[in-house]
Amino acid sequence: MLDSFIEGLPKVELHLHIEGSLEPELMFALAQRNQVALPFKSVEEVRKAYNFRNLQDFLDIYYQGMSVLQKEQDFYDLTWAYLEKCKANNVLHTEIFFDPQGHTERGVAFETVLNGITRALDDGQKKLGISSKVIMSFLRHLSEDDAFKTLDQALPYKDKLAGVGLDSSEKGHPPSKFEKVFKAARDAGLLVVAHAGEEGPPEYVWEALDKLKVDRIDHGNRALEDDKLVARIIKDGLALTVCPLSNLKLCVVKDMKEHPLKKMLSLGLKATVNSDDPAYFGGYMNDNYKAVARALGLEKSDLLTLARNSVAASFLDAAEKEKLLQKINAYALESEQPCNINIKQSTPAATDKKSNNP
Ligand code: HPA
Ligand code: ZN
Repeated sequence: MLDSFIEGLPKVELHLHIEGSLEPELMFALAQRNQVALPFKSVEEVRKAYNFRNLQDFLDIYYQGMSVLQKEQDFYDLTWAYLEKCKANNVLHTEIFFDPQGHTERGVAFETVLNGITRALDDGQKKLGISSKVIMSFLRHLSEDDAFKTLDQALPYKDKLAGVGLDSSEKGHPPSKFEKVFKAARDAGLLVVAHAGEEGPPEYVWEALDKLKVDRIDHGNRALEDDKLVARIIKDGLALTVCPLSNLKLCVVKDMKEHPLKKMLSLGLKATVNSDDPAYFGGYMNDNYKAVARALGLEKSDLLTLARNSVAASFLDAAEKEKLLQKINAYALESEQPCNINIKQSTPAATDKKSNNP
C-alpha cells in the first residue's frame, strides 16, 4: 500500500554521485570496451565485495570502479543509465554530483567528463522530461591547492554548473581546510554544499555553515548531537540531504530502525531522502523511501513532506519549484480518492445494505 504510494510519488533527488550509479554490469562492459583490467572475475564477485565497515572501505572501491570511465561516451552512458533509473523511480528533477579530480588525476580531461555528463542530462530533459543540475565536488582528502586548480578548470564551463560540493574521506579533513576555495566559488556565483556530519563530528557541520556558508548540508546526521546546531540549521532554513541506505551500508546507523530521519522531521529540520551511490548501497530513490517508511513507520503525510522538502531545497527557480509542488499536491489529492471510496464501501451501513439486497 505505502509501496505503491511511494512509487507513484513525484520525487526530486538532491544527493547523488554520478560515479556511484555505476552498476557492476556497466562497469564490466566499459572495462571490456576500454581494455581496463578489473580485480573481479564477475558481476557477482563485484557485488560480494560491497560490504563496507565505514566510508573509507567504500571509497577505496568507488575510486577503483571509476577507472573504467575514460571517454566522453562512457560518461554519457553512465549518466543515461542513471536517468533511466530516475524515470523508473518517478524522479522528475535531479541534482547530481561529479568528482572531476577522480578522473583528471587519471589523465581524463575535465571537458571529457563534463561534456559526457551534460550531453546525457540534456537528452534526459528532451527525451524523458527529467530536469537536472550539476554540482562539482572537491575531494577533501586532496589539498586546497588541488581544489583551486579544479575550480580554475571549471570556471570556463560555469554556466553548466549549479554549484560546488565537498566529498570523500570526512574525518581529518574538516570544511575549514577549503574555506578559501569555497569563497572563490561563491564569488564566481556558484552555490555551495558540503558533506558534513556523515562520519565527522558536529563541529564539521558548524564549519560548513560558518566557514563555507553552505546552501544545503549533505547528510548532517551527526548535527543531532548538538541542540544549538539543530536550532541554528532550523533558523537558517537549511535542508539536509539524507541518504538512508547509504547510512546503513556505511554503518553510520546500525539498524534502519535507528535512523534519525523521523526525529529530524519532528524537530522541524528540512530533511530530504536521497540515494547517494545507489549502485553500491543497494537501491535507488524508491528503495530509499521504502526502507525508511517501513523501518520508521512513516505515514503518507511524512512522505509528502519529504518530497516537498526536496523541491523547496532544490536549486530550481521559484516557478519551476511551484510546478513540481503542484504535481505533488495533485498526487496527494488523487491518492486520497480511492481510499475514501474504500472506506465508504466497507462501512457497516454499506455492507448491511448489500446483504439485505442480494
Ligand atoms: N560520502 C563522502 N564522499 C562520497 C560519498 C559519500 O557518501 N559518495 C561518494 N563520495
Ligand atoms: Zn554523498
